[in-house]
Amino acid sequence: MKRILPSILSADFGNLERDIKELENIGIDMFHIDVMDGNFVPNISFGFPIIESIRNKTTKIFDCHLMIANPENYVEKFCKCGCDMVSFHIEATNHADRVIQIIKAAGKKAGVVLNPQTSLEQIKYLLPKVDYVLIMTVNPGFGGQKFISEMLEKIEELDVIRKEKKYNYLIEVDGGINVETSKLCRDRGADLLVCGSFLFGASDKKETLHELLK
Ligand code: DX5
Ligand code: ZN
Repeated sequence: MKRILPSILSADFGNLERDIKELENIGIDMFHIDVMDGNFVPNISFGFPIIESIRNKTTKIFDCHLMIANPENYVEKFCKCGCDMVSFHIEATNHADRVIQIIKAAGKKAGVVLNPQTSLEQIKYLLPKVDYVLIMTVNPGFGGQKFISEMLEKIEELDVIRKEKKYNYLIEVDGGINVETSKLCRDRGADLLVCGSFLFGASDKKETLHELLK
């Protein structure tokens, strides 16, 4: 089943509980949590305390997107602070296989993320092991950027590989998702669609959610 994952980066940080509840009430069951370290990406978002505090407010799935250098040093703690799915950037580590092992040993779902400029070749050897692959459709670091349409080919290729090799990973996309780009990505095999500014900026979120999956 195709799903929309609201990115809480676009939420009102002073009213996170209110925003989460509002989205739960219209049927959201997975939240996307963007962690930025000001090193791997040119922006800083939030870390463990915020995740722990919202963990107490909802039982829904937390999908944590780590935009941090050397994720192997922190990934276990992210697993322990309430994330159900944890993804890391292939560009941020020399120890990708180890990161996946740590996430799985913690009983969580492991995902690998590719920046727009990174080719699928870089992660081919990881595809049998990961639970999901996140294709960045903007340069990571900020919400509200324009979808990079050349990434559609990458999504399609990932779907072809999955079918050919009978792999089980889900395909997630992140960045610039709106009604139009959501459909383009879903048509090419994307399962999980992260949506930040478009959904949070909508006056009628319920209707927008419906449109995003139509
Ligand atoms: C960007 C983040 C995204 C971001 C998406 O680095 O990983 O999750 O919040 O926001 P929109 O949907 O506004 O592009
Ligand atoms: Zn993200």
